[in-house]
Amino acid sequence: MVYHEANGIITEARSPVGRGTDLLSNPVIAEVAAEHGVSPAQAILAWQVRVGALPIPKSKSVARQRENLDVFGVVLTEANMARIGSLARPDGRLANQEPSVYQEF
Ligand SMILES: NC(=O)c1ccc[n+]([C@@H]2O[C@H](COP(=O)([O-])OP(=O)(O)OC[C@H]3O[C@@H](n4cnc5c(N)ncnc54)[C@H](OP(=O)(O)O)[C@@H]3O)[C@@H](O)[C@H]2O)c1
Repeated sequence: MVYHEANGIITEARSPVGRGTDLLSNPVIAEVAAEHGVSPAQAILAWQVRVGALPIPKSKSVARQRENLDVFGVVLTEANMARIGSLARPDGRLANQEPSVYQEF
């Protein structure tokens, strides 16, 4: 992110709500979401926006698409940011997506 910011590059967050994994049911996400009265997806997307990323969530549901857009008023606390940030996986990716060998178009 530091390199990207210094070079005017916008960082995309792909599969931002976990692509059908258990991320949306994670208890930490649920607690942060409940604290702010938003959905788990909104808590995750608000975290990504706050770190300066551009999330591109996919949904076949118009209601969920609207929900996913309605995140810019969610103001997470530093504690919320740290809690969600602590969920990072060792390789920072979904399974089998090591960026040096994995590419998807
Ligand atoms: N080029 C690449 O390298 C690359 C890699 C990964 C992803 N992408 C792109 O990034 C986009 C998103 O990635 P993705 O589809 O893999 O993962 P994603 O957006 O993280 O997850 C999509 C899943 O989350 C569900 N969902 C979305 N919003 C939700 C909400 N508010 N509440 C509950 N469930 C919700 C969707 O179900 P419903 O549809 O039923 O709502 C769907 O099952 C896609 O356009 C994909 O093509 C590109």
